[in-house]
Amino acid sequence: MAQNVALVTGASSGIGEALARRLARDGRSLVLVARRADRLESLAEALRAEHGVEAHVLAQDLLQAGAVQAVLAEVERRGLTVEWLVNNAGFGTGGRFDQLPVEHELEEVRLNVEALVEFTGRCLPGMVARRRGSVMNIASMAAFGPMAYSATYGATKAFVLSFSEAIAAELRGTGVQVLCVCPGFTRTEFQEKAHIDASAVPGFFWMSAEEVADQAVGALGRDTVLVNGFMNSLATTTLRFVPRSLVARATAVFMKGRAA
Ligand SMILES: NC(=O)c1ccc[n+]([C@@H]2O[C@H](COP(=O)([O-])OP(=O)(O)OC[C@H]3O[C@@H](n4cnc5c(N)ncnc54)[C@H](OP(=O)(O)O)[C@@H]3O)[C@@H](O)[C@H]2O)c1
Repeated sequence: MAQNVALVTGASSGIGEALARRLARDGRSLVLVARRADRLESLAEALRAEHGVEAHVLAQDLLQAGAVQAVLAEVERRGLTVEWLVNNAGFGTGGRFDQLPVEHELEEVRLNVEALVEFTGRCLPGMVARRRGSVMNIASMAAFGPMAYSATYGATKAFVLSFSEAIAAELRGTGVQVLCVCPGFTRTEFQEKAHIDASAVPGFFWMSAEEVADQAVGALGRDTVLVNGFMNSLATTTLRFVPRSLVARATAVFMKGRAA
């Protein structure tokens, strides 16, 4: 019989790694996907030793053509069934859009949006047929308004939020749960890789990847959208009453000079 697993993309660091650790603590076997094989291998070893779960490493650059299909073909070859899909791999870019290399912006769209849609689209039919499954999509607080100086990133996360809410409504009563997680500032490698200086963000806005992961796992099946943390929830609720043009200008003032 096929073994049920949770497949976590972007499990080599940050929120994805914390989610993998949290799911292993619950006794779930895992498929860990990202590019850095060494990081995935040591995480898998730790999860096997600490929680007695199976942890499969599939090192894959999800920007490569056919990558999602290759990962899922290998999952099938190993006799595994994706019961939980965690679409977490993603990155951000900071800077004025016209000054950023457009190829990298397109990669951002391909990873944050296309890979997520493809994993979801290829895993959902099986979940629906089995009347059992969970899809967790990691968006961001950036999903709730236009993000000047991180325009592509904000737009990709707005897509993830809208897409997740829509499929959650479609899948009601099928036994498949969808949760869109919207973290705020979280201490990971993200800001450094995005060349965003977030040092001016007050400490009370920041969360750890472990807190985000704990809340996300707790919210699945209860909520469709989770904004992590009280301050972030307050901020996104307030954003609903602010004209989008003002949000764009406010982010422009804050981000200018803070994004490379
Ligand atoms: N940190 C924050 O403040 C924050 C806030 C809101 C939302 N988020 C979202 O949370 C998610 C996780 O980010 P994080 O904060 O944990 O950052 P992170 O530590 O940089 O993790 C990103 C993960 O994505 C993987 N990844 C990147 N490019 C990839 C590719 N081409 N193929 C396969 N995997 C790839 C990375 O692994 P490899 O480099 O090994 O491939 C890494 O495991 C992202 O979707 C991000 O947008 C983060």
